[in-house]
Formats: sequence, C-alpha cells, structure tokens
Amino acid sequence: MGWKSNPDRYGSVAIAIHWISAVAILGLLWAGFVAADTADEAAKIQVLRLHTAAGIAVLSLTLFRIGWWLFADRRPVETAGLPRWQGRSARIVHRLLYLIIIVLGASGIAMMALSGAGDVVWGEATGLPDFQDYPPRAVHGIAGRLLVLLAVVHIAAALYHQFVRRDATMSRMLP
Ligand code: HEM
Repeated sequence: MGWKSNPDRYGSVAIAIHWISAVAILGLLWAGFVAADTADEAAKIQVLRLHTAAGIAVLSLTLFRIGWWLFADRRPVETAGLPRWQGRSARIVHRLLYLIIIVLGASGIAMMALSGAGDVVWGEATGLPDFQDYPPRAVHGIAGRLLVLLAVVHIAAALYHQFVRRDATMSRMLP
C-alpha cells in the first residue's frame, strides 16, 4: 500500500490518521464527560492532563489531515451505484466532523487560556476554576454532544456499507 490514496483505496497516511483519530476521539469524549462530571478535583486534574494533551494532538492531526487532502492526496472515487443523496450526505458528515473537531480544540484551548487552568493542570498551582464561568465552555459542551451524534451517524453508515450494501467502502479504509 502506498502513502497516498489511489482511485480504489485510501493510502497509509490517510488510514493511519483516520484510525488514530477515531480511537483518540472515543477516549477524549469519555475523558471529557468524566472530567465534567466528577467532584474529585485531584482525579479531574489527572483526567484533564490526558484530555488536553490528546485534544491538542487530535486538533493538530485534523489540521494536518485537511492540509494533506488539500495539497498532497486525493480521495478514492465514490463507491459505484450509490444514490446521490447518500454521497452528498457522506461529504457533509465528513466536513462537519472536521469542523466540530476544530471547534472543540479551539474552545478547549480558549477555556484553558481564559480561566488560567493551565497552571493547575500542567503546573504547580492549586484550585481548578469553574469552567462554566467562561463562554467557550458552553460551546465545548454543545460541540461534544454534536460530535457524539455525528460519530454515531458515521459509524452506522460504515456498518450499512459493510453489512447491508456489502460494498468496499469500509475495507478501503482498512490497512
Ligand atoms: C477533539 C478534541 C476534543 C474533544 C472530542 C473534547 C470533548 C470533550 C467533552 C465531550 C467534554 C465534556 C463536556 C460536557 O460534559 O459538557 C469535554 C470537557 C472538557 N474539555 Fe474537551 N475535548 C476536546 C479537546 C479539548 C482541548 C484541546 C482542551 C484544552 C486544551 C479541552 C479541555 C476540556 C476541559 C477543561 C473540559 C472540562 C470542562 C468542565 O469540567 O466543565 N478539550 N471535552
């Protein structure tokens, strides 16, 4: 398999970014909801240490991925015989996934910067702020729930291709 995609399948760079992001995002959603729900401040700091590092990594990977598609690689051709609305919906969902990840990354960084929580999460300071006092927190919460919804639609569509249509849509994203 080459680094770049060809008309029939994704290349190794696209596949690696896809699956690393998928696993990291599931972990980020879990860690985010745990951090927001726990009353144990020490545990929250530990979870946020992982969450913020992984969040910045996923944001960077997503920006790299967009650059990769714009300047270096081209997607495989659309699966044959697909109704037009399904192809269009897939493109919209994929773009929304990128957009929501960028919104989550940016609102997360803004939340940390405005609240000064960086000194507590990564430094020696004590006493986490109440993130709800900062406007990016609401954006982060809504975007997190939207991402769950989009991920469910995305996974359902992949399973539909694999088990109902029995086409190559999913296998071309596997190593
Ligand atoms: C793709 C990346 C990210 C995802 C999927 C994500 C997801 C989430 C989710 C689902 C929550 C829980 C929200 C709620 O219950 O309303 C959360 C909380 C949080 N996230 Fe993220 N996040 C991401 C990136 C980041 C980044 C880059 C930062 C900071 C550098 C960050 C900082 C936080 C903080 C501080 C909380 C806790 C808020 C609280 O306790 O009220 N997140 N995140």
